[in-house]
Amino acid sequence: MEENRNLYSAVQPTNNLTIGNYLGAVKNFVELQNEYDCYYAIANQHAITVRQNPAELRQKTAALAALYIACGADPEKCVLYVQSHVPAHSQLCWVLNTFTYVGEMERMTQFKDKSRKHADNINMGLMDYPVLMAADILLYQARYVPVGLDQKQHLEIARDIAQRFNNAYSPTFTVPEGIYMKVGAKINDLQEPSKKMSKSAENPNSSVFLTDDRDTVIRKFKRAVTDSGSEIKYDPENKAGVSNLLSVYAVFTGKTVSEAEKEFEGLGYGEFKLAVGEAVADKLAPIQAEQARLLSDKAYLDGVLKTGAERASYTANKTLNKVYKKIGFYQI
Ligand code: TYM
Repeated sequence: MEENRNLYSAVQPTNNLTIGNYLGAVKNFVELQNEYDCYYAIANQHAITVRQNPAELRQKTAALAALYIACGADPEKCVLYVQSHVPAHSQLCWVLNTFTYVGEMERMTQFKDKSRKHADNINMGLMDYPVLMAADILLYQARYVPVGLDQKQHLEIARDIAQRFNNAYSPTFTVPEGIYMKVGAKINDLQEPSKKMSKSAENPNSSVFLTDDRDTVIRKFKRAVTDSGSEIKYDPENKAGVSNLLSVYAVFTGKTVSEAEKEFEGLGYGEFKLAVGEAVADKLAPIQAEQARLLSDKAYLDGVLKTGAERASYTANKTLNKVYKKIGFYQI
């Protein structure tokens, strides 16, 4: 049998993407597309678990498609599509719901965090979020799933659900494995470096967005919290702020963390933060320009997403049909 090289990942089209999303996920999508059969989705069904403005959700969906391509994802090499264009996701989600326990979902860290944050809207979708994510992955028989560390718990539950189903019937789903980058899998908040950088941070200086202009990027890095002492050393336990900035610099420039440490040896925090800001701004500028160009070409983008949806549906429906047969859904 041919080796399974399917790989799956997705990003939600909510708020603006941060450099954390880029370094933890999107950047790797590009590197992996040459080696694997990649499916990259825009998870708009996950997005509505938190109330969205419809016009904005539509716009951000197109913007994320353009961003994937601007970052280097090649629609000829990978399948780029919008989750809601492939009904099999919600169809499989329903089946997998019956293989998932309420208690497991209540224990999910993200569910608990988001329930606290959106206390007036703890909807069923928010709780069911990891099951939809499992459906995403399992539909494509994905062997690998590149994500940031904040998604690890969701990936573990997807594995559990796959195994549970396979044991109850017969091998049906590939049990997926997470791929986490050595550096970049958890980029932290610039103001509170013990927390992950988030799209929805309250302090505007906490996160650097992929849409930020050069001056904003540099200003945010200048204001980044560093640690006591003056040494520029990678030591996440004792120097969370400096270590985070070193990681950002290393991944953006393609250097190792120790090369970055050497480069900054003897420099002060001020010069260091400026250099990190400039390196990030230099990398973001061409991505932003290309994203804007693509966004103005709606016919091209829609064409990519249409082909993507067709190719994704083909794979997804094959899995869904197998599942429907195994569980005893009447076929006509
Ligand atoms: P989302 O949209 O929150 O984030 C997209 C990706 O970015 C990663 N990420 C980070 N990486 C490093 N440092 C950070 N500070 C940081 N913040 C976010 C996330 O881990 C993710 O890889 N549930 C997913 C979307 C999804 C999905 C899937 C992913 C839906 N279905 C199936 C994989 C497979 C999410 O909300 O990601």
